[in-house]
Amino acid sequence: MATSNGTVAANALFSTSLISPNVVAALPEGYTIRPLQRADFGLGFLDVLRVLTHVGDVPQEEFEKRFDEMKASGGGYHVLVILDGEQKIVGTGALIVERKFIHQLGKVGHIEDIAVAKDQQGKKLGLRIIQALDYVAENTGCYKTILDCSEANEGFYVKCGFKRAGLEMAHYY
Ligand code: ACO
Repeated sequence: MATSNGTVAANALFSTSLISPNVVAALPEGYTIRPLQRADFGLGFLDVLRVLTHVGDVPQEEFEKRFDEMKASGGGYHVLVILDGEQKIVGTGALIVERKFIHQLGKVGHIEDIAVAKDQQGKKLGLRIIQALDYVAENTGCYKTILDCSEANEGFYVKCGFKRAGLEMAHYY
């Protein structure tokens, strides 16, 4: 699938041209960052998300089906992963690009599901994930990026350059 942001490899969720060169250069030695791939089920992707919240029992075929749905949805989903030197996934984050009618047909980035493996926290990987998602947002034409977080994580996002704005409301189903 080709997009305005480059050709997307068959196994990748989005184009590697949206991966920030500055973030690549700033990672610890041996670590890499790239778009989520269809084969990442076997590299510990869901285990990393378990530090964030309940993931459930997701079989590989269901993971792949969800990956295919995201990819087929037209370029809105940007899930990226950081791998350590042993090719294990140790961090992830997502930017969903919402297309709007307001703001002259503007686009808003939504940051979701940021997680760094417990034994890898404190190495600036969370910061690099946010910087990488900011780069995706800027390069897909978003005029702003927003996210929801707990009070306990506010300090992390402030260090990443975000500021408190508004109030979250929710209905759970
Ligand atoms: N409160 C205040 N400051 C923090 C916090 C926090 N909870 N976490 C990190 N920081 C600071 C660090 O001390 C560091 O500061 P420094 O630059 O002065 O040294 C800076 O933020 C960057 O920290 P990183 O090392 O990049 O953070 P890390 O890699 O540990 O990732 C994260 C932070 C993602 C919150 C991680 O702890 C994690 O995965 N937590 C569990 C899952 C979670 O809560 N995810 C966020 C959910 S919100 C969402 O997804 C939109």
